[in-house]
Amino acid sequence: MNKALAILLYFFSLACAASEAGQRLESAPVDIFDLESVRRGAGYFANYCLGCHGIKQMRYSRIGGDLKLNEETMRAEFLFGDAKLHDYVRTAMPPKDAEAAFGVVPPDLSLIVRARGADWIYGYLKSFYVDPTRPFGVNNVLAKNVAMPNVLWDLQGAQEPIIKTVEGTPTAVGVRLTSPGKLTPQEFDRTVADIVTFLAYVAEPAKLQRLPLGKYVLVFLLVLTVILYKLKKEYWKDID
Ligand code: HEC
Repeated sequence: MNKALAILLYFFSLACAASEAGQRLESAPVDIFDLESVRRGAGYFANYCLGCHGIKQMRYSRIGGDLKLNEETMRAEFLFGDAKLHDYVRTAMPPKDAEAAFGVVPPDLSLIVRARGADWIYGYLKSFYVDPTRPFGVNNVLAKNVAMPNVLWDLQGAQEPIIKTVEGTPTAVGVRLTSPGKLTPQEFDRTVADIVTFLAYVAEPAKLQRLPLGKYVLVFLLVLTVILYKLKKEYWKDID
């Protein structure tokens, strides 16, 4: 028993140590049932991300249906080039060109929220800072020497790193705004949260239907319990 406890404590302390060493992540204000937020996120995604990243497990028509957007809106705001409503959402950038430009092919983002977690992506999109030594002039606190440019810089503004010495090496541990962008920091945080909310929906679109269904199931079970209880009383009336 003591041994088991010791092992448990050991793993617990390891987990603590791991989170100490890494960056502390801010929790992302994400609610996929806030359809307005998901819709805004879809719009930002189409304008700021789709040029490089696909979400190839999704069809435009499914997004339209789930987000209650009519065909006209879908065509006006999401369907670029020769994309059709029933197509999967793919980036127009050929992988070869991407590799030539960035050195890596930007990953498909269909399941990125499941792989990285919403908090990490929220932090990542907010953690770009100016670094003239990098090809696109930016680096990222959460993804050192990242190949992605800061595509949201005009909204956010420019940030400089907060450097601390971690285990003997100077490391960027945070960021500080040096010149403002088009949005206030609060507005920018909301924008990033909307993008992450959209990606969270994309990673598990069935959740939109499944969770509300769960409520009906619970109500059904409750009603059933009442009926069965009454029935039992009825049956046992004469025997008690
Ligand atoms: C100009 C091209 C380009 C655009 C536009 C772009 N990205 Fe990226 N993105 C990349 C590249 C290249 C990488 C790979 C970075 C690496 O591996 O160092 C990347 C990586 C990422 C990653 C990290 C994946 C991982 O697990 O490491 C996320 C998350 C991401 N992008 C999200 C976004 C979002 C959200 C947008 C829109 C707001 C966006 N990107 C717009 C090029 C782009």
